Amino acid sequence: MSLRVLVMLFFIFVVQSTPELCIFRGYIAALEGEPYHLRCCLSTDHYQRNHIVRWSKHYGPNRTVAVNSSDRIIFKDDAIEFWPIKMTDEGTYSCAVGNQEHQWNIIVTKRSEHDCFHPNYLITREVEVAKSLSINCTHDYYQKVAYNISLFKDCSPVPGNHKTYILKNAVLNDTGNYTCIFFLYKNGRSFNVTKTFSVKIKDSQDKISTLYGNSINYVEAELGKEKILNCTALLMDSSDMIYWDKEPNNATNIIIDKKKSTPSNSSGMLYVSNLLKIKPVKEENLNVWYNCTLITTRDPETIHFFLKKKEGPADVSRHIFIIVLVSSAAIIFLVIMCIIYRVDIMLCYRDLIRRDETLTDGKEYDAFVSYLKDCRPDNGDEHKFALEILPGALEKHFGYKLCIFERDIIPGGAIVDDIDSLIKKSRRLIIVLSENYMSDKVRYELESGLHEALVERKIKIILIEFTPISNFTFLPQSLKLLKSHRILKWKADKSLPYNSRFWKNLRYLMPAKTAKSIVFSSHPLRNESLPVLSKV
Ligand SMILES: *[C@@H]1O[C@H](CO)[C@@H](O)[C@H](O)[C@H]1NC(C)=O
Ligand SMILES: *[C@@H]1O[C@H](CO)[C@@H](O)[C@H](O)[C@H]1NC(C)=O
Ligand SMILES: *[C@@H]1O[C@H](CO)[C@@H](O)[C@H](O)[C@H]1NC(C)=O
Ligand SMILES: *[C@@H]1O[C@H](CO)[C@@H](O)[C@H](O)[C@H]1NC(C)=O
Ligand SMILES: *[C@@H]1O[C@H](CO)[C@@H](O)[C@H](O)[C@H]1NC(C)=O
Ligand SMILES: *[C@@H]1O[C@H](CO)[C@@H](O)[C@H](O)[C@H]1NC(C)=O
Ligand SMILES: *[C@@H]1O[C@H](CO)[C@@H](O)[C@H](O)[C@H]1NC(C)=O
Ligand SMILES: *[C@@H]1O[C@H](CO)[C@@H](O)[C@H](O)[C@H]1NC(C)=O
Ligand SMILES: *[C@@H]1O[C@H](CO)[C@@H](O)[C@H](O)[C@H]1NC(C)=O
Ligand SMILES: *[C@@H]1O[C@H](CO)[C@@H](O)[C@H](O)[C@H]1NC(C)=O
Ligand SMILES: *[C@@H]1O[C@H](CO)[C@@H](O)[C@H](O)[C@H]1NC(C)=O
Repeated sequence: MSLRVLVMLFFIFVVQSTPELCIFRGYIAALEGEPYHLRCCLSTDHYQRNHIVRWSKHYGPNRTVAVNSSDRIIFKDDAIEFWPIKMTDEGTYSCAVGNQEHQWNIIVTKRSEHDCFHPNYLITREVEVAKSLSINCTHDYYQKVAYNISLFKDCSPVPGNHKTYILKNAVLNDTGNYTCIFFLYKNGRSFNVTKTFSVKIKDSQDKISTLYGNSINYVEAELGKEKILNCTALLMDSSDMIYWDKEPNNATNIIIDKKKSTPSNSSGMLYVSNLLKIKPVKEENLNVWYNCTLITTRDPETIHFFLKKKEGPADVSRHIFIIVLVSSAAIIFLVIMCIIYRVDIMLCYRDLIRRDETLTDGKEYDAFVSYLKDCRPDNGDEHKFALEILPGALEKHFGYKLCIFERDIIPGGAIVDDIDSLIKKSRRLIIVLSENYMSDKVRYELESGLHEALVERKIKIILIEFTPISNFTFLPQSLKLLKSHRILKWKADKSLPYNSRFWKNLRYLMPAKTAKSIVFSSHPLRNESLPVLSKV
């Protein structure tokens, strides 16, 4: 029995190999009823010298009988031909040339009664879909003598194809047994020799089970909450399976929820979900790998989950801390900017809300201008400032009404009384300071103003340092009590443009007044030259 199996295995080995002119294998197979031949492939020198090839059949080790030619068995050149081979021809054969010999065991198998081929005599071919499929009916020995060669698929003629070959791109239903039949004539009889290819067409997208998701996942889990790890696979074979590597038997907070479903088109496929539920997540569940493995006939495939702690509320408070820090820094910055630009902001604010402090206090002038009145030549600049530049800017441009004694008061009457009442009618006292300021003439203005300002708090004093003053000792003690920001430094050309810091600061110290209340009073100095806006 076991020998028979061995022999069968040999058959398969034999027929799966490409046919050869010379066969050197020990065992060869033949189909009953088909023409068969063997070639004696011994040294070519002997043929050239016309050596005779002797064929013998061996019956056991001691009995060898010469093979005689007949109608059915023919010697042709170095070959022996059977027309056809029969079951009784089975046995050990040898050919000898000179003292060289070669031996074979011929095994003859009965033809299949129902099929044009024998299932053990197949030449197998595997071709992928869309790849080239080529079948060609050729025979080393009988091709030339065949009067007809036909190609059959699964024992019926290939439809619409009288060719002896197939050359095409493979499709799935090309799978089948292709039999080449070589029709031969000998001695008035018809014979046929078959050669069968078993062709399998493989689907190129081999259907294999797959796991869904990335192979490595870092997932965040919050302590005390539920966490679900999803392991889902599409299984192509019911013997494939998935499982969690770390199925914790005694961890009471972990359960595995298994689900199965078939896809709607149902082609033997199966969706399988193994959900690993951790409820609630504890500290010991964190920083651990959870692996889900798919087992198939191929290498196992695994997806890994690593549980990380989700940054909790502690982190939120840190964020809030940063936000508070940043916003308080922004507020401090804003405050500093407000302090630096308070004058601009205040002026802008006044313009915006059209604030006017001058409407209800019953005073006539916005400011009384006090300056050195001695008409010495070296005081010319001061005069020009007090009588031209200051009113030019404050009155014409910014709409204030100034009281300048020399300009506005008609000579005559008691100067002292006038000054007193005029200061009382003014909202501010602007003092244009210079080293020479403390002359007798202005002393009264100053003292009157100081009295109003410091005692009665009815007037505010604005000091303009017209020329740089190194020593303030000449000023009355009480004047030194004034806040330093109420002293404005005149910086000649730099202060001249209306948008200079000097004018901004001065306007800031002046009462708020809307542009509406600009007074277009006419007086002699009005049309004199005004400060020119510099382009800076
Ligand atoms: C073959 O011959 C040998 C000796 O020549 C002998 O020993 C043996 O038994 C024979 N075998 C058979 C099967 O006759
Ligand atoms: C071939 O012929 C010879 C003599 O004519 C005979 O002895 C021998 O047995 C024959 N061979 C076969 C296989 O019949
Ligand atoms: C089939 O084989 C023969 C001989 O080898 C060759 O001439 C012929 O071109 C082949 N046909 C195809 C379609 O390959
Ligand atoms: C060969 O045989 C097949 C079927 O037996 C037949 O259809 C075909 O016409 C034959 N071809 C030739 C050239 O005789
Ligand atoms: C093979 O499939 C094609 C379409 O893919 C079809 O046209 C053809 O008829 C099929 N052939 C057979 C033998 O089933
Ligand atoms: C060829 O025929 C054998 C026997 O009938 C069968 O088992 C096998 O499946 C066939 N091969 C193909 C590819 O159809
Ligand atoms: C081939 O030959 C065998 C027997 O010789 C016969 O039964 C069979 O029908 C033949 N096949 C064809 C296709 O003619
Ligand atoms: C698990 O993942 C699969 C595939 O991504 C998805 O179809 C399924 O709805 C998921 N299940 C749950 C419970 O999230
Ligand atoms: C789980 O069981 C194993 C033994 O079966 C034990 O060694 C381990 O401590 C247990 N773990 C917990 C968390 O109970
Ligand atoms: C069935 O559906 C799956 C995906 O849902 C798809 O990959 C497969 O090709 C479908 N099968 C058929 C026979 O339509
Ligand atoms: C799970 O996967 C991780 C990462 O590859 C590995 O370090 C760990 O040993 C695996 N755990 C188990 C139980 O297989």
